Amino acid sequence: MRLSKSTLVFIVSMIVFSILIANVANILSTDHKYESKEDPFMDQHNTLKMTDKNNHLLWFLQISDIHISIFRDPSRITEFKEFCHYTVNIIKPAVVLASGDLTDAKTQDSIGSQQIEKEWIHYYNILKDTRVYDKTTWLDIRGNHDNFNVVNLKSKENFYQNYSIQGKTYPRSYYYQVGRDDETYSFIGMDACLEPGPRRPFNFVGMLNRAEILAIKKMVEEIEASGSNYTIWFGHFPTSCILTENGGVRELIGAHQKGLAYLCGHLHQLGGIVPKMYTLQHAGFLELELGDWKDNRMYRLLAIDHGLLSFVDVQHRDWPVVLITNPKHALFVIPRKENLNIIKESTHVRILAFSLASIESVKIKIDDENWLECRKMKDSLYVARWDPSNYLKGIHTIQVYVRDVEGREKYIAQPFSLDGTRLSFGMLARIALMTNASTVFKFTFGALFLVSVIPLCVLRYLHKLAKEKRIERPRLRRGCFKVWTRKLWILSTIDRIFWPLILYPIYLIIGPWSIGYIVEDHLGAIFAWGIFVNGAYLPGSFTYAYGFLQLMTFQIPLTLVLANGVAHRFHYQVMKPDKPKTVLGQIGLHLPFIVILSIQLLMAYFFWLAYGTLAFLLGPLRTWSVVIALVLWHQALVLPERCTREAAKIWSVSGEPNLEPTEASLVSNVNAAT
Ligand SMILES: *[C@@H]1O[C@H](CO)[C@@H](O)[C@H](O)[C@H]1NC(C)=O
Repeated sequence: MRLSKSTLVFIVSMIVFSILIANVANILSTDHKYESKEDPFMDQHNTLKMTDKNNHLLWFLQISDIHISIFRDPSRITEFKEFCHYTVNIIKPAVVLASGDLTDAKTQDSIGSQQIEKEWIHYYNILKDTRVYDKTTWLDIRGNHDNFNVVNLKSKENFYQNYSIQGKTYPRSYYYQVGRDDETYSFIGMDACLEPGPRRPFNFVGMLNRAEILAIKKMVEEIEASGSNYTIWFGHFPTSCILTENGGVRELIGAHQKGLAYLCGHLHQLGGIVPKMYTLQHAGFLELELGDWKDNRMYRLLAIDHGLLSFVDVQHRDWPVVLITNPKHALFVIPRKENLNIIKESTHVRILAFSLASIESVKIKIDDENWLECRKMKDSLYVARWDPSNYLKGIHTIQVYVRDVEGREKYIAQPFSLDGTRLSFGMLARIALMTNASTVFKFTFGALFLVSVIPLCVLRYLHKLAKEKRIERPRLRRGCFKVWTRKLWILSTIDRIFWPLILYPIYLIIGPWSIGYIVEDHLGAIFAWGIFVNGAYLPGSFTYAYGFLQLMTFQIPLTLVLANGVAHRFHYQVMKPDKPKTVLGQIGLHLPFIVILSIQLLMAYFFWLAYGTLAFLLGPLRTWSVVIALVLWHQALVLPERCTREAAKIWSVSGEPNLEPTEASLVSNVNAAT
């Protein structure tokens, strides 16, 4: 059997496509190989007996993306004060993890960015006025906003060093240990802020350089040598948003056997689209993004109870706060780190409950059984006797009802499993946490680059073949596809527009996008593949997303608009219609271009706000694009006849004797419509 060329191409592309899909599916899968039924729980060392005793239990809080701002939303500050006062007083956490973006650091226009000392003073004063550090241990760490426009740790702009709790002692990553009941709990704060720290937006993806990775590895060694039992990692950036110079950040975290989870923030639940951004990483730890304090006023209560990690994300002022620590939620089991036999052999259901007023009643109900009143133990622990052997197979549900003396109520229900039955994490959460933002940005930019260059080149090549009479002009069915193929074909034959349209995206890949004051008063240059500033090189990452946006909002629509403009010109030159130009036709011709130009002008203005006048003037990416667009549009409209002669050979009526009579009117109709 002979395979035709197109069949072959089809088969090859199907194979490539399936490999791609299989790879993505593999990255996102949470059904890891080690979860065999025979030995689901590797950590069998921990053989604690879980009873009703208030021991082997530690709870703590996380708060993220506080974004204290002097320009926006003053309640963000006052409610943060409430958090430090009421919430911390009532819950009495062992530590509070403040995982970055402590201040907003945006200028009044919301586009520019710089460190604002007043915001830091607010942060510091709230911690001081509420004496929060006397009540708990406050572990803060920087986020990208705390690092906007900070050239290095010694910079006077690095207010984190002066106004945070930990920054005075630990300018970057650090760890902290808590001892309770013969157990040691370690907290590793991982600072992946860029150094130097550019202004926004090129500060979105963090990075761990070699020195920082070494420092973290050394901390892990010390923690392991100290005989610590459990480790919680925290930091601002999700692992998907951290570049590393060698070795991945997930491998770094996963290599530490005692590490249960990595807690982060930064993505703001992707604007509310992914409120439960949690996953189990292949490296064996849970990664839990916490929604922001900034707009959503979220915080998180976590507990490690006999080595089992549980947590609940809570909205500020939403009392009572309830956390079931035994049996723990089935979705969040960490197979290599937790011993589920502890649940199987436990004697009591265990619940932490807190409220503004004292708690009147805590009741539980498992599956369809009756409600059962819990007994209060010391502190905030509530227990009820149970017999786990009734629930050995599959998924079961536990419900909890809590009421305080002032009538505040909370009802929660969650699944649990004693045989290792797994539930799965949301697809979007896995995409956000398990991929690599830099790679995704790079890939989408690359793909759009090809989309903007290849069709024009192919059409130009086809034109060459058609001119040499090696192929016939393609016979396309009438309709939108034909109209636009024809327009783009004509466009591709016109050198003075074709070449700029091809060279522009190539320039985006190679050349500098802008030169200006990137950090403080240090000159730097921004390229797609990286930023040079103050003798440092920051590899490209978010820049690719920026480039993608530029191709999407400028290159591709401009190509279409120019194709339309050229076709219009061609139409009047070659077809010589007798109808005069209508006002509507004029609007249809010019309006799309005006829209593109306005968007580009607006983005150039934003760029000016973000990086200043010099970067605006020396900005091929934004500012110069406006000029290019104007020149090309002018070219398209005043095209002399000799430029369209090439295309006319193929596409004019004379070159196409059996052209449908309606086509000319069809073209002008489409012109008017677009
Ligand atoms: C915690 O670690 C210490 C020191 O390694 C060990 O003696 C103790 O048994 C551990 N506790 C648990 C619950 O594993």
